[in-house]
Amino acid sequence: MSAIRIACVGAGHHASWTLYPTLQYIPEVEMVAICDLNETKSAIASKRFGFARTYTDYAQMLAKETVDAVICCGGPALHALVTETCIRDRLPVFTEKPPALSAADTKRLAELADRMDGKVMVGFMHRYATVTEWAKKAMQTPEFGTVVMLSAREGIWGAPAKHLVIDSGIHHIDLLLALGGSVDWLFAARNSFGQKRTGIAVILHFKSGIVGQLSINSLESLSTPSDVVEIHGNNGQWIRTDNWNKATWFKDFAPIHEAPEDPKDSIGLYEGPVDPRDSCLVYDHSWTAAATNRATLLQGYVGEFRHFFDCLTRKTKPKPDLWDGYRAMAIVEAINQSADTCEKVWLTP
Ligand SMILES: NC(=O)c1ccc[n+]([C@@H]2O[C@H](COP(=O)([O-])OP(=O)(O)OC[C@H]3O[C@@H](n4cnc5c(N)ncnc54)[C@H](O)[C@@H]3O)[C@@H](O)[C@H]2O)c1
Repeated sequence: MSAIRIACVGAGHHASWTLYPTLQYIPEVEMVAICDLNETKSAIASKRFGFARTYTDYAQMLAKETVDAVICCGGPALHALVTETCIRDRLPVFTEKPPALSAADTKRLAELADRMDGKVMVGFMHRYATVTEWAKKAMQTPEFGTVVMLSAREGIWGAPAKHLVIDSGIHHIDLLLALGGSVDWLFAARNSFGQKRTGIAVILHFKSGIVGQLSINSLESLSTPSDVVEIHGNNGQWIRTDNWNKATWFKDFAPIHEAPEDPKDSIGLYEGPVDPRDSCLVYDHSWTAAATNRATLLQGYVGEFRHFFDCLTRKTKPKPDLWDGYRAMAIVEAINQSADTCEKVWLTP
């Protein structure tokens, strides 16, 4: 396969520790140029990842270099600027989240991309986590049935309340939207202690009727992540994913009985499954062998890049796109509005 020439904007923490190392999984990629306002950072990235040239001005870089795609990771204001430039230059772009500073700005970019046939992917990697893909296949089986309820929780460490939802919760918001479709209303409550300790609880109602819960907090520790997603169907089955390395499909057939008049008739209800194949199915990605200790693969960073570059080769549009980014940003803003006003917020279509 011929080389895919890329230029990158941003040589900061996430780009240098996660995104660029992950590009090893895409052997066709050729690191042509990198841009960062900080020349030391771009020089280090260039040395580590083999970018041929460095720049401090992304517009100059994109004007001078001939590339097939752009990766941008530098914060929402920069993401919006670079995405707009790429759409106008007809260059496919992978942009980290948040895609812009506001839902309105993201919508404007999504409309521009529609008008100019732009190819933009937003980095919501939880969609491509191996447990998510496993759970989606389980959800699509006839025995799982229809989704009734969704929930997601994430605890991080010491983030200011105003950053918590847009920086961190936005990943779980996108995942819930990917699993449940559009949300029509939500209600959020917030409790903060000082600048950096906050808990946010959200109730969501999806247009399909699915009900959802989202719990986001900055009350936990860096060493004990607690990312949990739960998906309940209407047949007594449900799926739970834990920390992106374990997924459980609770398959036990759960018949719905009338309460028996005689208590002794209820004894059988509490027996274990007769056939072991009717019990839980667990996908637990081992952390013991070096070859499986690949967090970027499990968390979806590899999958999102594989999808982006596959779309590039096939000349198709990647997902999640700017409209997904807009829907997630609209929920971010609705959560903050509801928590500020203590009122239910309706999402506009
Ligand atoms: N998907 C994820 O899991 C994940 C994880 C962490 C961070 N992120 C996102 O990645 C983005 C970057 O976060 P970070 O922690 O790496 O931040 P960072 O501050 O470490 O890096 C940002 C870099 O962008 C550079 N920059 C800023 N403006 C620029 C401009 N005009 N031109 C060129 N370079 C410019 C800065 O000099 C800096 O090196 C954020 O939007 C963040 O939300 C995503």
